[in-house]
Parts: sequence; structure tokens; C-alpha cells
Amino acid sequence: MSEGINGIVTCAYLGAAVLFILALGGLSNQEKARRGNLFGMIGISVAIIATILSHVTANHWVLAVGLAIGATAGLLLALRVQMTQMPELVAILHSLVGMAAMLVGFANYFDPKTLEHYVGAALMVHDIETYLGILIGAVTFTGSVIAFGKLSARITGKPMLLPGRHFINLLLLVVSIWAGIVFVMQHDPRTSPDAIAMVGGNLLPTINGLPAGTLALLVMTVAALLFGVHMVMAIGGADMPVVVSMLNSYSGWAAAATGFMLDNDLLIVTGALVGSSGAILSYIMCRAMNRKFLAVLAGGFGTAGGATAAKSAQAQGEISEIKAQEVAELLKEARSVMVVPGYGMAVAHAQHMIARITAELRGKGKTVRFAIHPVAGRMPGHMNVLLAEADVPYDIVFEMDEVNEDFPNVDVTIVCGANDIVNPSALEDPASPIAGMPVVECWKGKVAIVMKRSMATGYAGVDNPLFYKENTRMFFGDAKKSLEEVCKLLE
Ligand code: TAP
Repeated sequence: MSEGINGIVTCAYLGAAVLFILALGGLSNQEKARRGNLFGMIGISVAIIATILSHVTANHWVLAVGLAIGATAGLLLALRVQMTQMPELVAILHSLVGMAAMLVGFANYFDPKTLEHYVGAALMVHDIETYLGILIGAVTFTGSVIAFGKLSARITGKPMLLPGRHFINLLLLVVSIWAGIVFVMQHDPRTSPDAIAMVGGNLLPTINGLPAGTLALLVMTVAALLFGVHMVMAIGGADMPVVVSMLNSYSGWAAAATGFMLDNDLLIVTGALVGSSGAILSYIMCRAMNRKFLAVLAGGFGTAGGATAAKSAQAQGEISEIKAQEVAELLKEARSVMVVPGYGMAVAHAQHMIARITAELRGKGKTVRFAIHPVAGRMPGHMNVLLAEADVPYDIVFEMDEVNEDFPNVDVTIVCGANDIVNPSALEDPASPIAGMPVVECWKGKVAIVMKRSMATGYAGVDNPLFYKENTRMFFGDAKKSLEEVCKLLE
């Protein structure tokens, strides 16, 4: 690459890195989220153009065809995906990052030119980077594929707890470390006892015609692929949010390791940004779910009690049903109304209807607030995105912790398609699979109207004692249609 182009590419990488940081800053706030997204889009466009300019390959046709296929697939997916399928899409995209890190690692390893650039200690460091890139990439790849399967209900949401699962994890870890040491030792001409071949004037240790260390690398890859499957299979339904953000973090670290391997500064910075923001998000999720971060990293967390969903899914008494007319009357009489949106609101596309009712009630001088649980829906910030789309004012949307203590002053709570996040058994039943998870304590208000289509359980598969409480009214039906009826009666 000429000096001039080199300078332009470096500046473009720097600019793209700054844009990514601005994008993350923007995404932390709903009002600036659009701008944050725009920064991210400009940043990635700059990064792609600069990478093409940096002559990553002399074969521009292959590059153009690859870019065209990738861009078309991405565009089609983005156009077709439903809001409710976003978490699955994110999971499968993480798996692609993992697979790319793995494949680039192998390609780089088998490229004989690598040894022309690295000798001595530099080769050892490069080998460690290659090894880590493939390792984290492989775990991310299979882990994300399983997460995709669980989120899209193609695989059961119940945890698969193999006997001796912690021992299996430990064994896979030991195998990976051992294979790593063998790989680095065999691939270094200074420590390799194996046949030495001459390539481009450099010493290349080979075994059976393959670069030395190939077998160790393959053993580690299989162990890492198995670990990814085992780790996510062992995780119970309600703990999936933590897995999604953790895999997001892993995909960032895989990209950063690939950046080191390819000597690409932008990939290192971007990978580190994704890795660390994903790790912070995982930590926040763990706190929200009352889970331990280190237990998450070990995999198979949140299932210690072994209580299965079926065990606690038993009918617990009588329910009181309510119809649209009575709901409208309760709302007309109420002074303070709280809305607790959940996954069902996303399924029903009921956010616009809820926004209309909110405007109507506020117009009549009533206080309307929204209580958002950190894992409501199927992805971080799911409810906030939907409410913003429906133009619900930001200043009446609160996090669960900000309003939980105020429920005794709430006249009517509308639980719109939420289930697990309003389940009192999380606080009252230590044997429950969701025990310890903080929930929106809507039963402490005067009346809670629960909108759903049936008595079915939520994502965690746990029955909900809220439905049987004295001050709960079950409002059955599709959330959007039910709210339309209520809205007509209110207007
Ligand atoms: P859920 O517990 O999944 O409950 C959603 C409820 O919505 C269901 O009980 C369903 O009951 C109802 N529903 C579905 N379609 C509806 C419609 N058209 N109209 C009315 N109601 C409808 O949701 P949640 O309370 O939001 O809790 C989220 C759960 O997902 C937690 O367990 C969480 O751990 C998990 N999770 C979250 C994330 C993130 S990051 N947020 C990621 C993965 C998993 P009916 O079928 O009877 O209608």
C-alpha cells in the first residue's frame, strides 16, 4: 500500500472509531438514539470503504461479489424481520461474527506468508492471537446458533442439565488450554521438534504436510464448539436475556482477537467496544435478574434449584374476568394509571393503541405512567423502542425501580401482554425457576387488569399467581383488539 493511501486509511479508521463511540453514546439515550444509529451507519460505511482502499485483496471481483451477497442478504433480512423476531436475528448475526472469526483464523493460519512477517516472539504472540480468535469465535458461533434456536422456539427453552455438567465444562477448558500450549510450541520453529521445511526463506515446521499444530488447533476448535452448545443448552428460559448480551460481548472479543491477528486497528477498537459494552450490558442484566456474573460466565446459571417450569405450573384458584366496558369505567374513575408492557404488546402491535389511550386519559387530567422491567419483551430496551415508535412521551416512561414503591398509590394498572415480569412467585416462592428475579409489583396497586389471550404461561413457563389475586381482573383477548374496544368507549 502506498504511503498516501496508508495515511488516508489510518485517518478513515480513526474517524470510524470516533463515530462508533459517538454511536454508542447516542444509543444510551432514547432521544439521541436515532442520531446514534446514524453515526454508526456512517462509521461502518467509512470503515468498509477504507478497508477496500487498503488493498485487502488483489482480487476485487471476489470482494465485490462477496459484498453484494452480504449486503443483499442483510437488506432482505432487515426488511422482512418482524419486531418480535429481532432477538433471534441478533443471535444469528452474532453467530456469523463468531463463524467469521473462526474461518479468518484458520485462513490466516494456513497462509504460508504469515511466517514471512513473524519470527521468534512475534510469531508466538501471533499464534496466541490466532488461537484466541478461533476459540472465542467457535464458542460464539455454536452458542449463538443455540440461542437462536431457543429464542425462536425451535429448541426447547428448558435447561438441559447433563449429569456432571460442570465437570464437562472443566474438561473442555483443560483440553483447550492443553491444545493451546501444544499448538504454540509445535508451530514455533524454535521449539518444534518436527520436520522443518523451507518456505519463502523462513523455517516452517510441518507435520504430515500440514503446518505443525494443526491437530491441536482442530482439537481446540471441536472443544470450543461443544462448549458453546453445552453452555447455552444449560440455560433456562428466563435467563436468556443475559445469554444474548453475553454472546454479544463474546462476538466483540472474537472480532478484537481477529483484529490483532490481521493487524487491523479498527477491528481491534470496534471489537473492544462491542466486547466491553456487551459485558457491561450482561452485568446490568445480571443485576436486574439477580444472577451472579461469574456464574453466567461458567454457563448453566440460574438453574441451581433445578425446579422445572412444569412443577410450578399448577392452577392456583379462581380468576375474575373483566370486559371492555368495565375496564373503560375503571379507567374513567382512576386518577393514577400505570401501564406495564410486556412481550404480548409487541406480538399484538398494541403500542399505538396504548399510546392513544394514554393521550386520551392524560387529556382528562389523569396521571399515566409506564413501568419498564429490564427484561420485558425479548431484547434489551424492547419496550422502550416500541413506545418511542408510538410517540409515548419519554418523561412518563420509568424504569421498574423508579416506580415499584409507588404502586400502593396507583388506582389501575394495565398489564399489557406481560407475564413473567409481573410474577409474584419470583419474590414469594424460593423453588420457582425465576426465584430472586425482581418483578414489577403491580398487585400492590388497587386493581391490576391483566391483558392476555389465555391462561398460558410466559417465556419462563411458570404459572403466575398474580392471575388469582383478589384485586386482579383478567381481560382476555388480543391486546390490540381489546384496547381498541376500550379506546372507543373512552372517546
Ligand atoms: P412473557 O413472560 O413472555 O409473557 C408474554 C405474555 O404475552 C404471554 O403470557 C402471552 O399470553 C401474552 N401475549 C402474547 N401475545 C399476545 C397478544 N397478541 N395479545 C395479548 N397478550 C399476548 O413476557 P414478559 O412478561 O415481557 O417477560 C419477558 C420474558 O422473556 C422473561 O422471562 C425474560 O427473561 C425473557 N427474555 C427476555 C429477553 C430480553 S433481553 N428482554 C430476551 C430473551 C428472553 P397468551 O399467550 O395467553 O396471550
